[in-house]
Amino acid sequence: MTKARRGAGTFITFEGIDGSGKSTQLKHLAAHLRACGHDVVETREPGGSPGAEEIRALVLQGEPDRWSAETELLLFTAARRDHLERLIEPALRAGKIVLCDRFADSTRMYQGLSRGDLRGKVDKLHALMIGREPDLTLLIDMDPATGLARALSRRTADERFEAFGEDLQVAMRAGFLDLAREFPKRFRVIDGARAVDVVAAEIAQLVDAELA
Ligand code: ADP
Ligand code: TYD
Repeated sequence: MTKARRGAGTFITFEGIDGSGKSTQLKHLAAHLRACGHDVVETREPGGSPGAEEIRALVLQGEPDRWSAETELLLFTAARRDHLERLIEPALRAGKIVLCDRFADSTRMYQGLSRGDLRGKVDKLHALMIGREPDLTLLIDMDPATGLARALSRRTADERFEAFGEDLQVAMRAGFLDLAREFPKRFRVIDGARAVDVVAAEIAQLVDAELA
């Protein structure tokens, strides 16, 4: 963890393909950290603040070709900027631990890799408008077929991306593992293809060690 960037609080993100267990594990980690006496904020992207939740509905619902990759990148970045200003930064300044389900690494993958080769634009826009990385990123790695089956079994309204299917998930899995190699200081790769409690115990141990 990069302590110089930590400020008062700690910013931890969960990344991974759809259905890998991010939101399940985020809830377990939040409960564990609260039991240890920490002040924890649980949030997600896209969304996490009222304005960003409105953008979430625009970007996740509707036909897969509703937006171009470039427009989508702008919408996700606008949502992130609002989330950062209104929720994440104030919570960190107040010394809290912020747990976020997806953050900029998802944009690097979904807009930067899967829908054209926009990674250069993703990084420029991030530097210009967001300019901060998490202190710690937990990548829940898992086999795409299992992830897709889990994601589809949930049947939420936010299914634009899940409709892209297994090929996208395969590319995403490889891309996330590449990102973990690109940012080894903050990334930790966790095998998500195990029982919920086993994964949760490993994450709790790892985060306790990082916070110590
Ligand atoms: P994500 O947030 O990464 O899309 P979720 O946490 O929503 O994933 O999990 C997707 C589905 O898989 C949910 O129905 C959840 O209950 C289930 N699930 C999560 N983790 C596991 C696990 N380790 N083993 C089996 N099922 C799981
Ligand atoms: P969500 O249902 O929250 O994800 P999950 O299925 O993992 O629980 O939907 C978020 C979708 O938005 C997911 O498919 C990834 C995509 N996404 C992007 O394309 N770019 C981004 O910057 C973010 C944060 C998410």
